[in-house]
Amino acid sequence: MKKHSSLLLAVAAFVTAFFLHACRADDRSHACGAGIAVFYPATFDSVGLLPSLALVAEPSRTGTLPRGWKVKPLFSVEQGKNVITIPVGKDVDLYGTGEVVGALRRNGTSTTTWNLDNYVYALNEGKNLYQSHPWILGVRPDGSSFGILVDSPWRLEITLSDTTLVTTEGPAPRVLVIERDDPASVVKALGELTGKIEMPPLWALGFQQSRWSYFPDARVKEIADEFRKRNIPCDVIWMDIDYMDGFRVFTFDPARFPEPAALNDYLHESDFKAVYMIDPGIKKDSLYDVYRQGTDGDHWVKDKDGREFNGPVWPGACAFPDFTRPETREWWTGLYEDFLSTGIDGVWNDMNEPAVFRVESHTMPEDNLHRGGGVLPPGPHARYHNLYGMLMVKATREALMKYRPGKRPFVLSRANYIGGQRYAATWSGDNASRWEHLRMSIPMTLNLGLSGQPFNGADIGGFGGSARRDLLAHWMAVGVYYPFARNHSVQNSADQEPWAFGEEIENVSRRAINRRYMLLPYLYTLFREASVTGLPVARPLFFADTRDTSLRREEQAFLLGQDLVIVPRWAKAPRLPRGAWENFRLEEDEDDGYQPLLAIRPGAVIPVNKVIQSTVEYTTDSITLLVNPADDGTATGLLYDDDGDGYGYKNGDFALHRFTVSRRGDNALELDVERVEGTRDTRRQYRIGYVNGGKIRYSAWADDTTRVFPLVR
Ligand code: GLC
Repeated sequence: MKKHSSLLLAVAAFVTAFFLHACRADDRSHACGAGIAVFYPATFDSVGLLPSLALVAEPSRTGTLPRGWKVKPLFSVEQGKNVITIPVGKDVDLYGTGEVVGALRRNGTSTTTWNLDNYVYALNEGKNLYQSHPWILGVRPDGSSFGILVDSPWRLEITLSDTTLVTTEGPAPRVLVIERDDPASVVKALGELTGKIEMPPLWALGFQQSRWSYFPDARVKEIADEFRKRNIPCDVIWMDIDYMDGFRVFTFDPARFPEPAALNDYLHESDFKAVYMIDPGIKKDSLYDVYRQGTDGDHWVKDKDGREFNGPVWPGACAFPDFTRPETREWWTGLYEDFLSTGIDGVWNDMNEPAVFRVESHTMPEDNLHRGGGVLPPGPHARYHNLYGMLMVKATREALMKYRPGKRPFVLSRANYIGGQRYAATWSGDNASRWEHLRMSIPMTLNLGLSGQPFNGADIGGFGGSARRDLLAHWMAVGVYYPFARNHSVQNSADQEPWAFGEEIENVSRRAINRRYMLLPYLYTLFREASVTGLPVARPLFFADTRDTSLRREEQAFLLGQDLVIVPRWAKAPRLPRGAWENFRLEEDEDDGYQPLLAIRPGAVIPVNKVIQSTVEYTTDSITLLVNPADDGTATGLLYDDDGDGYGYKNGDFALHRFTVSRRGDNALELDVERVEGTRDTRRQYRIGYVNGGKIRYSAWADDTTRVFPLVR
């Protein structure tokens, strides 16, 4: 009897334990917002995974998992690895996973989240590049969509298919799932979870010229002068590593850049901004102040035995700041004070995967130690690797805000992690001057945008190798539509400035850049939208009609915002959205065989400007409204305007206007201008450009009290 009862007790205990365990796992999966759920594995390791630097806030429990919830991750352990199996359903088109090579539609691909210095994308078949975005966007045939965020900075392998698999040697992560009616709403929800970009300074939307490297300072001036002399608009000249003294960051080469402040003044006088590179590797040199300070302050990442870790980068053996430490980030921020006081406008943080030379991993050992502090626990490099660049640019951004008060910070980072759009813009690292990489740059920019990073672009002209004439011309023609538009090239490559191949390509480049500047009012409005909603600036074409599944693989043509389609000249049989999209030209002579075709959505109003040579000349005093009325004869569009820099806009010093245009017979249009938000004064003249049959008919200019605009030509 006794034996019997103890057996019963044991069985009861087992059953209770089993249920408790199962329930606990289940209990911890819950709704955390309307149409958002979070799923926890039974073995969730909060120390190894929290706090999440991807999310702006811990998900709060808003209820139980809604009934009929479709996308449910399942957790298991296989061969010592944590595995998440996610049945996503048949006929779902999958996108996202951040900065990736290959097709726009990601079904059948695998991606590794492990930031890697991947020159010309040659390593690991390009499965991992410089940034990590453990994020999947799924679009069903009816347009309804979901998003999956695997909330882990550890290395993950993500294989996308009907049954999507995520495996990791790190701890089993929680997974957030978003359900929405359309893909744009999913991306917006991602913005709510992981944050949005802050409004960049307007100049950061201008065209930018770089190379590894322009030196000495006289060469930098010469490049700037060429742009002005040739009437090619440009806003920024970039200083790559050769401005430094022996690749010691925060120093200037005494022979090549003896007077950085004078150089920056020179650039400013001709309306350029100056962006300078800063890498994380600090030369191990006891005579170098930054190294000494870092050593005295105990700021370096340690090896597994607790000794200063050293690895080679540009200057030879380097130590690396441990950006997980709040004290180290503060020290790093402080290093920028003198540096920025020379009149530097923005900072380019590179090599921050972090890249380490002459080792197979291209980075530091995974068992190196980060000490953490504040909310971050200590942990091995394996845990902090993908966060290294993000923590670095967070500190850099703080420096710009501190030492250039009243100016908006601009930081460009090569490495980053999902959510890192809060701190820095990005470019897609070391691509190659090859056709394939020009084509691929479009799905790359689109998938980055779908993964929360709207402010991105590829090196125009390609980085590795030398661009040939025709390739540069096509790249300039398309690259001006990247949200971030910069021409950049590797050391010792053939020159690829807009004039490098003679007059014809110079003209092609000028036309292309002119078009970007003419479209700036529209582009700036899109950046405003991105900063408020998280929507990408460059969007896949299927955003135009989410139920038209024939658009789901289109990756040559793409959208800027919702109103403008860009069709590269080399696009073969592009799929375009249905409806009366109208082609137009911004300048009379622009049909040079290189400029992409532009088309405006039926029902859209796109605000455009005259050509200017830099954003210093930018005003919205005279705006042309390009209009393509829909079938009902009306069209609407928005224009955002503010100071272009500073924070006045946060206190209402901006104007967001909505234009509503309606046809008045065949030869006139009526314009209604409505202030939607903001208190900034605007006095404008407008004219209307009626886009029809591939032509634009213009009205005369009239002030903003005018309502009826007769077309005059
Ligand atoms: C890295 C960067 C590249 C830069 C070079 C030298 O390769 O990706 O843009 O020109 O370093 O600093």
